[in-house]
Amino acid sequence: NPEPLILGIETSCDETGVGIVRGQTLLSNVIASSMEEHARYGGVVPEVAARAHLEAITPTIEAALAEAGVGFDDLDGIAVTAGPGLAGALMVGVGAAKALALSRELPLYAVNHLVGHVGADVLREDDTELELPTVALLVSGGHTSLLLVRDLVDDVELLGETIDDAAGEAFDKVARLLGLPYPGGPHIDRIAAQGDPGAIRFPRGLSLPKDMAAHRYDFSFSGLKTAVARWVEQCRAEGREVPVADVAASFREAVADVLVTKAINACRDLGVPRLLLGGGVVANARVRELARERADAAGVALRIPPLSLCTDNGAMIAALGAQLVMAGRAPSELGFGADSTLPV
Ligand code: KG4
Ligand code: ZN
Repeated sequence: NPEPLILGIETSCDETGVGIVRGQTLLSNVIASSMEEHARYGGVVPEVAARAHLEAITPTIEAALAEAGVGFDDLDGIAVTAGPGLAGALMVGVGAAKALALSRELPLYAVNHLVGHVGADVLREDDTELELPTVALLVSGGHTSLLLVRDLVDDVELLGETIDDAAGEAFDKVARLLGLPYPGGPHIDRIAAQGDPGAIRFPRGLSLPKDMAAHRYDFSFSGLKTAVARWVEQCRAEGREVPVADVAASFREAVADVLVTKAINACRDLGVPRLLLGGGVVANARVRELARERADAAGVALRIPPLSLCTDNGAMIAALGAQLVMAGRAPSELGFGADSTLPV
């Protein structure tokens, strides 16, 4: 079948995502998020996420089928995120996928969440093809990774990743510090537009020469978060009003700078003049702007899929599943389990 009909299931974090694709064509992409339930904790609570997936998984699968106008009998296969992500959350998606595969006698493909983010790009509607190899920068509340993708199906290399917090997590923690609601990324982004990004020089994690030797493509955001916390505390201790817009702008600049610098370094070092962005933090205005500027200056072609495909979703998992089928890959043995640290 040249254009397999694949249902994809994604439950690695707080989004229950189910999408359906035919080959490289998006048919449906339904998402149920438990974000609101995490708001009062100021971050994703793994047990709460797993429970919410359990409640949402069946209705979300049904909604995705209905929206695509297809039934179980039409499907050629199922793809599911096996990792990386939250163990309990992943288990719900993997369990549901196995149950469906067994009961409907469908081949099942276990896929990697990060590679799924890259796979999302094939669903773009603008007729441009993803050119390979490409460097991919994937930034969300759960991960911050730099990949070298030579082939979507079997040649993806992890260049580096965060050694502590994810970039989105840093946005959320700093937002909380500034008294902004969860998830804080969009709020910081908005407020930063009113501030001076040069007002405060916050640290760029793992960017000093001594760190670059071992961590050229790795990220660290916990030091930055602590620096912002200290700066704000100092301000309050001295009885000064916290210049929220300047703090937000300076923090956002530090994150965008380090993300884009390391990604463009990778393109240059490896002689790969292509950079793909993915993950929810791609919504950030300064990340996009700086990536555009530096990519242009370095002669790197920048690709940013539409935001609905950048944030966690099931369609990207289905898209990668379809790539596996089209490449003639054998389905996964049903013995696989959820793996919170699954390598690419
Ligand atoms: O990919 P995503 O939707 O899923 C998870 O990680 O679960 O990413 C969500 C993350 C959150 O940390 C959120 O604060 C961040 O992306 N985010 C942003 C912006 N929009 C969302 N961070 C910075 N600026 C934004 N405009
Ligand atoms: Zn993700």
